[in-house]
Amino acid sequence: MILLLALIPIEAGSRDGLAIWDSRCEECHGDPVIFAGKYLWDIEGRLQGRHHVENLALFMRNHYTPDHEIETINNMLLTHANSPLRFKDECGGCHGDAKEFVEKSIWVRGSGITGLQTGMDISEYLLTHQELQPEDVAFYQKLFARIAGKPLP
Ligand code: HEC
Ligand code: HEC
Repeated sequence: MILLLALIPIEAGSRDGLAIWDSRCEECHGDPVIFAGKYLWDIEGRLQGRHHVENLALFMRNHYTPDHEIETINNMLLTHANSPLRFKDECGGCHGDAKEFVEKSIWVRGSGITGLQTGMDISEYLLTHQELQPEDVAFYQKLFARIAGKPLP
């Protein structure tokens, strides 16, 4: 992260995302890395919140973020948000692309998430798969629901 920031030329007079965060957001949200890891998702390059899925940028515009700093803070949060890249690393070798896998194999319904091939609720199935731990299972449930466009509450 430090290395990355050092490589991005910062226009004179404009602040980087962490500096903006420290002055405008930190008092309520604490550490941006922890905040983004807990609540935010990078789904195909777009930042999604826990509640604000389609319109997070609009929400931020009305939420302590001046227009000229939206893009910078959005990009900073994106680098720390959860993303399907983890699926690519851990699962992609067998299952391919996350979006295609969800379209083909995952059914998100009101009360749970079912694997179409196994017919099992994935909250049970994944505990027996690839030595996944409960927190990993929670992560993948949330990820699949996001990709399916039906985020879990
Ligand atoms: C005075 C306190 C306060 C400040 C300052 C503040 N926030 Fe928030 N923020 C909140 C509260 C409360 C919520 C939860 C409300 C909600 O999600 O509708 C929230 C929610 C959010 C969310 C999550 C929305 C979601 O759908 O999960 C994001 C992203 C966010 N804030 C970004 C920022 C940014 C960026 C800044 C600084 C530019 C900032 N906040 C400053 C109180 C604050
Ligand atoms: C070594 C190969 C391999 C890896 C790596 C792997 N899986 Fe699987 N996975 C499979 C196979 C094979 C099946 C089908 C098993 C069956 O039918 O019982 C499966 C089935 C599933 C199913 C059920 C799909 C359905 O249609 O019912 C889910 C969900 C799943 N995997 C998620 C994951 C996740 C998440 C990861 C990464 C953490 C992962 N898998 C990593 C081989 C793998």
